Amino acid sequence: MIANSDPLGQHDPAQAPMGTGPEPESLWTDWSRSFGLQVPILNAPMGGVAGGVLAAAVSKAGGLGMVGVGSAGTVEFLREQTSVPSLAGIRFGVGLLAWAVQNDPGLLDAAICAGPSLISVSFGNEWWWVDRVHDAGIATATQVYDVDSAREAYEAGVDILVARGSEGGGHGIHRVSTLVLLQGVMDAVPATVLAAGGIASARGLAAVLAAGASGVWLGTPFLACPESLATDAVRALVLKARGEDTVQTRIFDIALGYPWPPRFDERVLRNDVTDRWCHREDELARDPQARIAVAGFVELGGPATAVVDAGQGVGLVTDVRPAAAVIGEMASGAAALLAAWALRHQPGCSHRNGA
Ligand SMILES: Cc1cc2nc3c(=O)[nH]c(=O)nc-3n(C[C@H](O)[C@H](O)[C@H](O)COP(=O)(O)O)c2cc1C
Repeated sequence: MIANSDPLGQHDPAQAPMGTGPEPESLWTDWSRSFGLQVPILNAPMGGVAGGVLAAAVSKAGGLGMVGVGSAGTVEFLREQTSVPSLAGIRFGVGLLAWAVQNDPGLLDAAICAGPSLISVSFGNEWWWVDRVHDAGIATATQVYDVDSAREAYEAGVDILVARGSEGGGHGIHRVSTLVLLQGVMDAVPATVLAAGGIASARGLAAVLAAGASGVWLGTPFLACPESLATDAVRALVLKARGEDTVQTRIFDIALGYPWPPRFDERVLRNDVTDRWCHREDELARDPQARIAVAGFVELGGPATAVVDAGQGVGLVTDVRPAAAVIGEMASGAAALLAAWALRHQPGCSHRNGA
């Protein structure tokens, strides 16, 4: 074991080669065990990125893979993508957008019919869907952004609250960071809470599990996986980006005409369009010609104009690795970090404060 052979803590447990430390399975939480997962890791349901192949890969690696049905998602897309894990007999979840379900209730029907273990509906504050999903014997989840929205979702009967901090990629309410939010939500409601936003390495995973999270909901770390629906051009942008290269904006929702409630903006990689229009969203909304121009740039999708949702953890995504490798490395690194910490703080250990 790493921790025994390195009592002074000079070796970094997070960097230990896979298979040389505690088993990733040692990261279990009460919830992950009861949900039948080997590791308490879910991929976030990322529209346009998390399709059936990624969901299947994440579940096969011991977590729970989620299929994301995003702003442009349709019932056909949902059926096609969920059939991948479903036909292979692999568990999966489905993530929907509240406003999209409102506009097309067929999305929720199709999600239920697909037979997932979990359905999340995020970005809304109506809860009629919770009973419908429960009636089908399926667990429910939603993302929350502050203590009030966590209380509301808990009281509405949602099984799993995803405390999604402002570091996260894609849409959210970008006001409270992940660790602050996690502490507040866990103190406020006795719910199953997953942490999300900016968790992109073994260290982040260890931190939130040590804080008591039941698991993690990871988006950005899976962006560059070969199993994702992202194009190679998007993967290249992700690999190049640093943590400080993201911005929050409504530019693309305004230009593309998606009916996102204005309180949700989108964390994306900075590009020529965001450099020009960030903080000028109201002006863009009033200018039809400019909206057409921005939509045209998005269509081009070149490196300077492509819309790439990504969180601040993007700087930690440095190569294209299969989902199983992402999960294996994060889980074994976190298990080693937590084991080393526990060992160092055992009664009688002379290096108690040597971390
Ligand atoms: C590319 C991308 C697309 C996303 N699409 C969705 C979506 O369709 N539905 C959803 O509930 N969340 C979506 N999200 C947000 C994630 O659920 C989650 O909040 C976020 O990825 C967590 O932060 P992280 O990216 O730092 O891991 C998306 C995130 C990314 C990066």
